This record gives sequence, structure tokens and C-alpha cells, in this order.
Amino acid sequence: MNGKLLYDQRDVAAAPYAEGGTKFKELLGEFGELLGCFDVGDYISWLGWINHVNGLYARAEKVAKEFDDFLERVVQEHITDSDDGRHENNSKDFVDVLLWIQKENNAGFPIDAASIKAIILDVFAGGTDTAYTVLEWTMTELLRHPEVMKKLQNEIRKITSNESSVITESDLNKLPYLRAVIKETLRLHPPIPLLVPRMSTQDVKLKGFDIAAGTRVIINAWAIGRDPALWDRADEFWPERFLNNSIDFKGHHFELIPFGTGRRICPGVQFATSIDELALANILHKFDWALTGKKLDDTESTGITIHRKFPLLAVATPYSQ
Ligand code: HEM
Repeated sequence: MNGKLLYDQRDVAAAPYAEGGTKFKELLGEFGELLGCFDVGDYISWLGWINHVNGLYARAEKVAKEFDDFLERVVQEHITDSDDGRHENNSKDFVDVLLWIQKENNAGFPIDAASIKAIILDVFAGGTDTAYTVLEWTMTELLRHPEVMKKLQNEIRKITSNESSVITESDLNKLPYLRAVIKETLRLHPPIPLLVPRMSTQDVKLKGFDIAAGTRVIINAWAIGRDPALWDRADEFWPERFLNNSIDFKGHHFELIPFGTGRRICPGVQFATSIDELALANILHKFDWALTGKKLDDTESTGITIHRKFPLLAVATPYSQ
């Protein structure tokens, strides 16, 4: 991507949603909340009509329509830009690449316009909320554990020459404690605690339980991450557990599965962890952080992604060596 993402200045000025990113973020919020809603019809099908009465279907249809209008416009703008030859200097972004694959028909199967919009939505819905939630929870834990924050800042500041230097991707492998802090946050606060529901394709017997084909299976990654049978000091924020330890979140260690596992594991693992590590390293390098004096409220939001219910307030003091 060339920094254009879904909006650039032109898009914001001309968009039907003049508020630009704010409107998109609001829509994503509503989308996430709806995905995490209890839908009685999923469990007792003849009670599905309740969703017409309680407004769930109406809310879902409204969000679907608003997203569709928005994405349609994004796609059309990219088609116009491409026809106008604005991509000559190789500045193709994600949407341009999808349109190119569609045009060249080189995916091995046809991709229609609805699929392009669905892929854009999938990646942005899956990739924005989740990644920033990790930052929110990491900062929450660091503010609650100043000794961990200090240890992490020492690690980061040791590899920088002065306060104005910027941590880049090539520095990340010199920061093992940073990786451990992120892992510990993902263990205690997996952004999608129940992952994405699955359905068994055949009858299986698992630990003495019969699971019939067609059963919806929900995996509680949150509970697995806090299970005292799997973790020492399970409820404690203790990043040291991941130092000199090969447990990773790439789907091979079933005790830590914030990104899922198997064929449908999150394709954004590497990207998400890199951007979280980079953002965190830079804000911790450049500022010292403290609580505002108010009690930290840890209430969680509802929805498919679990955020802090209330914004995290902290005082930042610029760091000087
Ligand atoms: C910390 C950040 C993230 C977390 C915790 C996370 C978590 C997850 C989880 C639990 C799933 C479902 C996996 C399963 O069904 O087993 C998923 C799927 C997915 N994620 Fe992520 N994700 C993150 C960041 C991202 C990013 C940055 C992107 C894209 C740039 C992304 C794109 C996707 C997509 C497209 C899917 C659907 C994959 C499929 O169904 O085949 N995610 N993610």
C-alpha cells in the first residue's frame, strides 16, 4: 500500500460521508457489535421472528446498505483513477490490486464486484479494530504494572541513539521483551475472545463427547488463555513467562490461539504484530506514561471484538535523555 488506504485527501473531500474515517470507524463499530449480538434464531430457529421485532435485522440491513454504498464508491473512484492513468508511478494500493486481478482474470476463478467489496470489508473489518484493541489493552496493563513498563522502556531505549530516533521494523528482532509483552496481552485479552464460529463437517467423538455433523462449535480462546491447568500464575500479567520459551501465537500451540489456528487462521498475524510492536515501541520510547490519578476502569465492551468500554486516559511526558 502507498499510504492511501481507503481514503486519501481527495476521497475525504468528495466522499458522501464527509466525516471520512470517523464515519467508517462508526460503521465498523456497529458491524462488530452486530456480529457479536445474541441471535436467538441461531439457537431456536422458530424464534427467529423475534429479530424482526427487536430491531436486529433492521440494524443489520442498515449497516449492510451503508457499507455497500461506501465500498461501491471506493471501488468506482479507483476505477476512475486507473482509467485516468494516475497509477503510472506504480502507486497501486490494495483495491487497485484486486481490480487488476479481476481485469486480468488471473486468480484462477472469476471475481465479481460483490466479491471485491467483500474482500475489502473482510480485511478492514478484520484488521483495524483488532490491532488497535491490542494497543489499548497493552497500555492498560503497562500502566497497571509500571515495573514492566520501565523494563520495556529500558530495552527499547537501549537500542536507540537519542530521543528523536525512530524504531523501525528492522529493530524489532532486538526487542524480545516487547514481543513477550504483546504475547502476554494477547493471552489475557484476545481481541476476538470466541474466535470465529466453526461447524463440524462430520460426526466426531472428542474426549468422550459425541459431536454431530453440522454442530456449531465456538472456541473460547479467552478461557484457554487463562486456564490454570495450562498456565502458571494464569491471571497475572507476567510477560517473563514468554522469555526463553517457544510458545507462539502462530497456530501451533493450542494454549495461545488469539489468531485462531488451522486453515482459516488469521492471515494478518505478521502484519498485526509488527504494527502493534512498532507503534508501542515508538510511543514508549518517546514518552513516559502515567495514570491520570483516576481509578483504572477495566470494563470490557460487547461485540465480536472486545475493547475497553471506556477510553484509556493517560498522561504522556516527552522523554529526554
Ligand atoms: C491483533 C490483531 C488481530 C487479531 C487478534 C486477529 C484475529 C483473527 C481471528 C481470531 C480470526 C479468525 C480465525 C479463525 O477463524 O480461526 C481472524 C481472521 C481474519 N483476519 Fe485477523 N486478526 C488480527 C489482525 C488482522 C489484520 C491486521 C488483518 C488484515 C490486514 C486481518 C485479516 C483477517 C482476515 C481477512 C480473516 C479471515 C480469514 C479467513 O476466514 O480465512 N486480521 N483474525
